[in-house]
Amino acid sequence: MRQTLVAGNWKMNGSLEANHQLLKSILEGVEAGVNAKVVVCPSTVYLAQAAETLTGSDVSWGGQNLSPEKSGAFTGEVSADMLLNLKCQYVIVGHSERRALFGESDEVVAEKYAAALAAGLIPILCVGELLEEREAGETETVVARQLDAILEKSGVEALSAGVVAYEPVWAIGTGKTASPQQAQDVHAFIRQRVSEKSASVAEKLQILYGGSVKPDNAVELFAMSDIDGGLIGGASLDAAGFLAICRAG
Ligand code: PGA
Repeated sequence: MRQTLVAGNWKMNGSLEANHQLLKSILEGVEAGVNAKVVVCPSTVYLAQAAETLTGSDVSWGGQNLSPEKSGAFTGEVSADMLLNLKCQYVIVGHSERRALFGESDEVVAEKYAAALAAGLIPILCVGELLEEREAGETETVVARQLDAILEKSGVEALSAGVVAYEPVWAIGTGKTASPQQAQDVHAFIRQRVSEKSASVAEKLQILYGGSVKPDNAVELFAMSDIDGGLIGGASLDAAGFLAICRAG
């Protein structure tokens, strides 16, 4: 039985004041009881604040990105060890915004995934197709390519220590959610592809859905057999809504 995981991707939002309130409210809500494992991913500059508020609680935190390099002359970058220093447990890798806006190729994403894993972080690997790719019937080809980059670089065992998030790009921040069945079909495809390499890794792999998850669609999505939780963007900035999603799992 896979535990439901709900991760909030705060993206480039927040401030010390706003986060203080948000973290406090999430913490209170989680302490009041949720079944899901809850993770928040604030901007890097606020990870120390998350650590200060959440240490010792059931809420984990993580980065939104990392460098594949260990250290050195990489201005503006953040290494896996730096995230660990701030007691992160998780890190998002290959989010579609990183791929589209910052030119991250499948190979770079695979290097980041490997760097996260080597450091002992749990990478949340994002995969997903563009609208034109879905319309051209290429969803499975695209998702397989993104997944295979990890399998080729790090092997299937690398997925036993990570999480996959299926995020159709056309559903991110658009208010358009994949239907539970559309999402389930791709999740089942991902699990099937992993099971070709290792049935046991596939069985245990948490596969999250992301893309306009809201309190009013989370229950239906999380009820699908291969959907093990969500990666939540916009709705994770509102404590009540985020907690409602956490309770949906
Ligand atoms: P959204 O973002 O929930 O705002 O659609 C999801 C994500 O980008 O991870």
